[in-house]
Amino acid sequence: MRTIAQVSVQDIFDVSTGVGLPCTVQNCGDMIYRSTLDLELRRELKPLLTRQGGVILGSILTFFSITPGAIPGYVEYYVVAPIVDRMRKKRTLKDFTLGKKLGEGGFGVVYFAIENETGDEFVLKRADDYGEAEVWMNRRMQIACGQACAPYVGSWEGEPKKKGAYPPLWLAWKYEGGRTLFDFLKDKDFPYNLEPYLFTDDDAYPRNLEIGSERASATIRAIMSQCLDLLVQTHGTGIVHRDLKPENLVFDENTRKFKLIDFGGSADLRFGVNYVPKQFIFDPRYAAPEQYIMSTQTPEAPFPPIALALSPVLWQLNLPDRFDMYSLGILYLQLCFKGFRTDAGLQKLRKELTANNESLSAWRRANEKNIRDNEGWEILDANDQAGWEFARLLTKKIPRRRPPAIMAKLDRFMTRRPSLLKVFDRLIPFPAGGENELNADGTPQYDSFVSWLLFRVVRSGTDSSGGFTEAQLRVFEEDGNPENLADAKQFLGMVASEELLKYGISKAGRTIADRDKKVEKVKNTNMPVKNNSDADADNDVDVKPSKGGLFKKLFSKN
Ligand SMILES: Nc1ncnc2c1ncn2[C@@H]1O[C@H](COP(=O)(O)OP(=O)(O)OP(=O)(O)O)[C@@H](O)[C@H]1O
Ligand SMILES: [Mg+2]
Repeated sequence: MRTIAQVSVQDIFDVSTGVGLPCTVQNCGDMIYRSTLDLELRRELKPLLTRQGGVILGSILTFFSITPGAIPGYVEYYVVAPIVDRMRKKRTLKDFTLGKKLGEGGFGVVYFAIENETGDEFVLKRADDYGEAEVWMNRRMQIACGQACAPYVGSWEGEPKKKGAYPPLWLAWKYEGGRTLFDFLKDKDFPYNLEPYLFTDDDAYPRNLEIGSERASATIRAIMSQCLDLLVQTHGTGIVHRDLKPENLVFDENTRKFKLIDFGGSADLRFGVNYVPKQFIFDPRYAAPEQYIMSTQTPEAPFPPIALALSPVLWQLNLPDRFDMYSLGILYLQLCFKGFRTDAGLQKLRKELTANNESLSAWRRANEKNIRDNEGWEILDANDQAGWEFARLLTKKIPRRRPPAIMAKLDRFMTRRPSLLKVFDRLIPFPAGGENELNADGTPQYDSFVSWLLFRVVRSGTDSSGGFTEAQLRVFEEDGNPENLADAKQFLGMVASEELLKYGISKAGRTIADRDKKVEKVKNTNMPVKNNSDADADNDVDVKPSKGGLFKKLFSKN
């Protein structure tokens, strides 16, 4: 307790130092007075987070949020999943009357069924194997992206076939109409048979177009767009389907959307479930060449919280989603070509791809003449080969080169964007006039940006600028085979000789006839010629050392 005297002395002291007086009479900078002010008024408020702190926190948050999303994983595992499980109505086989068999795979049987109490339609699956994985994936999908898969309603343990045998698991989903993309594909009217569902207005695009490649590609694009949406969601939650194919895309007529089914072989990279590298239980007709989604060195998944924390690293290292992207590429080729919609046709395609070192470009060169399906080629080659480039991207041999689903959605085929040159052509109008009409300086008049650019490119192969442009070499590298003279003529020789001559620019060493001799010389002397090196155009397999050398010999100034 302070005495009255002490309080009085303190008051006098305060007044003398200015505490409690207006600013005009007090020393505002005085320590004691300042200490009574709010930190903000004193302008001494420190930021809650320093720059370094922000960077560290941001990095941690980013790490845990990037695919497959560890933070949402924790919330889902520890909070949402237990609640959803508790709320799910408990059902057993006795609650249903089984109907016809819908499918019978190696690991179980699928039945149509009616629920006795409600009369509602369901699909029941007796899983003799991989049932646990399928239950896990369906629970995960239901919570994380319920719209992307058939509505899962629960599971229960069944009676073992024999006494002492392992009991099967039964799984139940709401019945979604029973037609899969496979059923639509089998119909000879495909893709037009899907139009009434995907494009309801029969007077609007694309149903107002003539039957043909442009109209067909609209439906194919719509199917691909739906598939990509499904994969964006599935991969976003850390699940790789591993069995993507038309049979596993069921069509829900109410929402007019395809949904994914059959997750028995899927892998969950968020929690490390069912990804054991040695296990591959997929359909070889659709499987990516790498077969494994994870490096075989990947250890078994640890305890869930740790698996979750490590999941972004595992995902980025292995990019397992690209496995599904390859399957989608094969599915896309089936949508485009009638011949690949049969089992035999599809198996033949896969064999031919393997024979061409998994290069779609090499496959096309070898097989284009045998595939007499004009509509298919037209779909792929329209809009400066937008569809073809898309097919090549999806089926790249090296997984990292395939786009993730989210990027594939922006592809030129999907967005119907014109090629870059065409965009420029529209943006930068050039004076009208044909290539035969010359300007005063002897250069041709251009009526489009494309022909102007072509001219520039060709000129860059003359004495003054030397060599071909990077872009030209890239095209050749992707689509041509430097060891193959016919290709060289087609891709570069054509540009070089014909165009140069057309513009009156000649260079003796650059005529095709001269180059023929040079190539022979090169082949005969110092270069081993690989038969299948064109197969590497798509895939950059290490057969390249000779390429640069030949390029130099063919096209260097001499
Ligand atoms: N929710 C569903 N609604 C409607 N039909 C479904 C549903 N789920 C599965 N089906 C049908 O049952 C078939 C088999 O289902 P699923 O693919 O899950 O089993 P599976 O083990 O792969 O059998 P299969 O090897 O015969 O495909 C599907 O191709 C589809 O026709
Ligand atoms: Mg199936």
